[in-house]
Amino acid sequence: MIQLLANTRSKEYPVFLSAGAMKEAGNLWRSRGREGKIVLITDSNVANLFLGPVETAFTKAGFAVKAIVVDAGEEAKSLAEATRLYSELFRMQTRRRDAVCALGGGVVGDLAGFIASTYMRGIGLVQIPTTLLSQVDSSIGGKVGINIAEAKNYVGSFYQPDMVITDPELLKTLSRGQLVEGLAEVVKYALLAGADFFEALESSYEEFLVMNMAFVEPMVRRCIEYKLGVVSDDERDYGRRALLNFGHSVGHGIETAGKYTAYSHGQAVALGLLAAVRISEQVYSLSGDYSARLQSLLELLGLPTRLEGIDPAEVIATMSSDKKADDLSANMVLLKAIGEPVINCDVDAAMLRREVDRLVTGD
Ligand code: GLY
Repeated sequence: MIQLLANTRSKEYPVFLSAGAMKEAGNLWRSRGREGKIVLITDSNVANLFLGPVETAFTKAGFAVKAIVVDAGEEAKSLAEATRLYSELFRMQTRRRDAVCALGGGVVGDLAGFIASTYMRGIGLVQIPTTLLSQVDSSIGGKVGINIAEAKNYVGSFYQPDMVITDPELLKTLSRGQLVEGLAEVVKYALLAGADFFEALESSYEEFLVMNMAFVEPMVRRCIEYKLGVVSDDERDYGRRALLNFGHSVGHGIETAGKYTAYSHGQAVALGLLAAVRISEQVYSLSGDYSARLQSLLELLGLPTRLEGIDPAEVIATMSSDKKADDLSANMVLLKAIGEPVINCDVDAAMLRREVDRLVTGD
């Protein structure tokens, strides 16, 4: 079992990574010296697949387990659902020595993490991410929260888990669409981390699509290690953590302008990465023909490289109201070289508009 370490200011915790790790959840929790019951929070899709095995993993290690199933989908990340869960935890006589286990993708991880961070001012938290996106991103780093009617993720906290169990075997149940969501983030990490990572994806991307664990596990590991390095330096997102937003400025603009239905998060991030790499070529003379190489990699992975059905002006307008934007200029992460990102780059409005237009025309 691979054990990676998150070493943040607020908490040090392990990320256990290996195919089959889910079955060891109870033993691993016990080995952390933990007692008390486990409140498993999952959604209606994941429950059908993994609730039984995870319950068994905890009960065979001697833990009492209670389960709460929320409806699958983004709507579960609401204050109304959180209120229902607080009452359920209360009825289950959940106490501070007990822990919430988030079993699912990003929605479940964010919601259950938020519950764990606020119920009785904070109880234990185990993350068992079941999607590629949550394995490489949302389950680590401690960002938890819910949506409000006006915007996503506006209410939440930084609350690190006590343990993360990342089992790449679980990814075998994902649809191609769900997998591709996470692959956009994997490509992001490759561009941030270094040319060898990007080249491995270029030469062996098919191994990811067929879920060859010998390829998938080390790739997931590289993503996690990158993120752990960043959040260990800047847990509260005051500086370097902004690196993780590479491709997300334009990506969020597209996602929001498309009202979260025209483009999924991963699809929007793919387009955002392409724009950011093209801008990096102009601002920092990024060499290596990466925009063309990125475009073909995204196409091979089944991610979009053209923006359709959305007005570029709306993308730009929504970018300026993004919670991460300090003012009206585009504040982006760019690359000096692959593996050499720069945060807080002011991108000229005309250049940004040109590049968003280019996503539409493809020229
Ligand atoms: N997903 C970006 C972050 O964790 O900061």
